[in-house]
Amino acid sequence: MALCAFYAVWGLLLEVAIAFGPVPRITWEHKEVQLIHFNESKVSNYSTLLLSEDKNILYVGAREVIFALNAVNIAEKQHELHWKVTEDKRTKCAIKGKSEQTECRNYVRVLQQLNDTFLYVCGTNAFQPTCDYLNLISFELGGKNEDGKGRCPFDPAQSYTSVMVDEELYSGTSYNFLGSEPIISRHSHQSPLRTEYAIPWLNEPNFVFADVIRADPNSTDGEDDKIYFFFTEVSVEYEFVGKLMIPRIARVCKRDQGGLRTLQKKWTSFLKARLICTIPDKNLIFNVINDVFILKSPTLKEPVIYGVFTPQLNNVGLSAVCAYNLSTVEEVFSKGKYMQSATVEQSHTKWVRYNGEIPNPRPGACINNEARASNYMSSLNLPDKTLQFVKDHPLMDDSVTPMGDRPRLVKRDVKYTQIVVDRVRALNGSIYDVMFIGTDRGALHKAISYENGMHIIEETQLFPNFEPVQTLLLSSKTGRRYLFAGSNSGVVQSPVAFCDKYTTCVDCVLARDPYCAWKPLEASCIDIFKEGEMERNWIQNIGGDASSCSDKVRENPLQHTFKHGSTAELKCSQKSNLAQVVWKFKDDVLRVESPKYRLLEKALLIFNLSEGDSGVYQCLSEEKVKNKKFSQVLAKHVLELKKMQHTTVGPAATAAPTEGNSDVPKVSAVSTEGSTAHISTTHMVPVTTVRILTKPIGPVLTSVASNTELFNSIPDAVPEKTMFLKSNDNFLLMFLFLFFFILFLCLLSYNCYKGYLPGQCLKFRSVMLLGKKKTKSDFSDCEQSVKETLVEQGSVSHQSGEQPKPAHDTGYETEPDCGNSQLQAGDSQASREAKDKPFDVKCELKYADSDVEGD
Ligand SMILES: *[C@@H]1O[C@H](CO)[C@@H](O)[C@H](O)[C@H]1NC(C)=O
Ligand SMILES: *[C@@H]1O[C@H](CO)[C@@H](O)[C@H](O)[C@H]1NC(C)=O
Ligand SMILES: *[C@@H]1O[C@H](CO)[C@@H](O)[C@H](O)[C@H]1NC(C)=O
Ligand SMILES: *[C@@H]1O[C@H](CO)[C@@H](O)[C@H](O)[C@H]1NC(C)=O
Ligand SMILES: *[C@@H]1O[C@H](CO)[C@@H](O)[C@H](O)[C@H]1NC(C)=O
Ligand SMILES: *[C@@H]1O[C@H](CO)[C@@H](O)[C@H](O)[C@H]1NC(C)=O
Ligand SMILES: *[C@@H]1O[C@H](CO)[C@@H](O)[C@H](O)[C@H]1NC(C)=O
Repeated sequence: MALCAFYAVWGLLLEVAIAFGPVPRITWEHKEVQLIHFNESKVSNYSTLLLSEDKNILYVGAREVIFALNAVNIAEKQHELHWKVTEDKRTKCAIKGKSEQTECRNYVRVLQQLNDTFLYVCGTNAFQPTCDYLNLISFELGGKNEDGKGRCPFDPAQSYTSVMVDEELYSGTSYNFLGSEPIISRHSHQSPLRTEYAIPWLNEPNFVFADVIRADPNSTDGEDDKIYFFFTEVSVEYEFVGKLMIPRIARVCKRDQGGLRTLQKKWTSFLKARLICTIPDKNLIFNVINDVFILKSPTLKEPVIYGVFTPQLNNVGLSAVCAYNLSTVEEVFSKGKYMQSATVEQSHTKWVRYNGEIPNPRPGACINNEARASNYMSSLNLPDKTLQFVKDHPLMDDSVTPMGDRPRLVKRDVKYTQIVVDRVRALNGSIYDVMFIGTDRGALHKAISYENGMHIIEETQLFPNFEPVQTLLLSSKTGRRYLFAGSNSGVVQSPVAFCDKYTTCVDCVLARDPYCAWKPLEASCIDIFKEGEMERNWIQNIGGDASSCSDKVRENPLQHTFKHGSTAELKCSQKSNLAQVVWKFKDDVLRVESPKYRLLEKALLIFNLSEGDSGVYQCLSEEKVKNKKFSQVLAKHVLELKKMQHTTVGPAATAAPTEGNSDVPKVSAVSTEGSTAHISTTHMVPVTTVRILTKPIGPVLTSVASNTELFNSIPDAVPEKTMFLKSNDNFLLMFLFLFFFILFLCLLSYNCYKGYLPGQCLKFRSVMLLGKKKTKSDFSDCEQSVKETLVEQGSVSHQSGEQPKPAHDTGYETEPDCGNSQLQAGDSQASREAKDKPFDVKCELKYADSDVEGD
């Protein structure tokens, strides 16, 4: 039985490991690629970025400073403006209990282009949010000091988002000092609007993004432009032990004027729906949205919304990218069902699908030609019935499902924080959406997804100190594509591709990077968007088929002579994480498992060299793409025996201890044919390290080193492992740990079951047995009634440690009886777990439950 459970867990983990982790093909360490940095001493929190594409300027909002940088080279500062909090305000802020050194400062949070000459800027200003106009010619503030309430958070740690549409600012933030009143508002002199302060409208939201989607100018229905907001909020519609988070998309119409009596100065077009990002067959639900990018381009039929998600309880470190097409979103808002709040006795509310009559005009719809034809020229004309309905029913029952009904990308051991997407036309005309995704460890993943797979082209370490990427922008001007990333310590500018890092055609093509192609004439990998015009003979294949490459085998083998019994180090470095290094000796694959060899990350060590080892060594990299294997020679070395009298070894080497290292060559007798070397049989053999560089520079370097020196040098030869390689190591440890843990649990349960263990365990045992007696049907309807499995299985047991909520209310057709008492709820929980995982149970937990029973 123990074995059974072990296999079950093992299988599960294995599946997770295989299914969720396209490995980035290349990992660029921070120093390996050329990035441009901007940071200034004493300035921190570079978290607000605004790109002006036509002026080629990147505006940066940091703590108490606004910079204007050259967007072609951000190291070039053009302007800077200090925007400090007055001493008086800082003191007052500190009196209110905030930190004078950190919180009571001015964090620039809104940076939006108002018109050609002005930026609209807001800062937290020591918990007194203030907005102003930044003159771009003089780079000075207008000194208007408008009250920024509702446009900018009070607390720099609070979430916010904003977008400027036709000189009106739309923002999502909080409205008060405590941050307890969330608001989505429009700042406008003609018609300022805001959300109703009510839980059904916004329930502890965490705003991540807002953007406008313009109506199709060619359409004849006279639709309005719409502003979309993205946030995670606490669910009102699902019952759950703790706070259940739900990712949302909300939208308002640009021409909304509010209502005349009902919803005066409030949105009449505010509707929100749930965004779905799940892997249904794995029971994985990503219910926290971290960032959104809306891919819009004139050539695009319709915009595509990309979102990055993580699960609420993210102990495994999973992230996903889901994409939604706009028509699906619009369908939900314009045709979907609404949700209805129903009050049950004791002021407990529930949300169920509303199946009653819907007033006309449709609540929450923008004013279009159809509405105008019925004489509703603006939202001010809308009938009270419609307005009252939308006030009470801002939540849609239908959800927005992702394209293809599954994520575009799923990755484990990483938390994605930011995303931008570039739509790229590859050489053969196919279109690819290249996703650039920032992580909470300062890295950037560049990924593409296609019909039957996903591929992470590369991983770049943007920030040396592994801090989270807080803002990510893409400049996709033709011929000048860059990424800008902001963090607490600085801003980084990166090109979208590092094509010139690939030195062979096979490497260039296997990168499967839509930006890169091989130019045979120049024998170089080029960025196709930097070239004047495309040529027919360039080689690119996003499918990874490199068979049209004809790389010349480098015919410059590295010559090397060696002494008997010495050790050679043959260098060969391989960048691709998807490739395998294979060594060949005289055209046969070398069995590197033999103790004679040791394969290092970037080299091969050959110990105890003798006559038979002379010959040609080839280092090949083999990479498999879609069942096709491509191999290329990375390095060629020729070893040759040195015909020279060997000097006797010094006493130090004689005494050199082996220290239990089995790899240390020990020679007892040397009797090779025609050998000229003179080696005493009792002596330890001096080890010769031969460092052969991959680039043939001058004569071969030979050096004699003692045993100890060599083994000291080995760790040097091992390069820094990449992040995910480390995590692979952790995996092994985890497996071992899990194995023993499960074994321990099994023994414990067995002994417990047999009654060998006294006290607490007997109680635990009685619960287990009791739970098993219960029939499953008691709560199977209950399970079905919870509209879907809300969180991964692991988190259920995690959450159950908390005090359960009061019993479910009954009497709703959508919600069958789940048992009315806390006691039963606890019971079902226990027995369900007992059934699902017979061994992975916590003694204390069950003990607590059995206590409840005893009461
Ligand atoms: C830009 O906006 C400011 C503030 O509303 C206004 O004073 C100025 O005239 C505008 N400039 C242009 C060129 O529209
Ligand atoms: C500002 O940056 C510092 C580190 O430089 C960080 O500790 C702090 O949390 C940041 N504050 C905000 C509000 O982002
Ligand atoms: C609108 O129609 C014009 C002319 O028919 C066309 O050139 C343009 O591409 C259309 N725009 C869109 C967004 O469909
Ligand atoms: C949008 O997505 C839905 C669901 O995946 C799909 O049925 C529909 O064809 C898509 N529409 C477009 C225009 O791609
Ligand atoms: C700050 O900028 C310098 C170069 O100007 C760069 O070397 C350093 O890594 C940057 N620091 C951060 C934290 O980005
Ligand atoms: C371009 O190449 C990719 C990968 O090989 C292939 O899937 C796609 O069909 C090609 N597109 C065209 C238009 O030939
Ligand atoms: C070294 O090589 C010789 C023959 O080439 C062999 O006899 C000897 O056992 C080897 N020594 C070790 C320690 O492997």
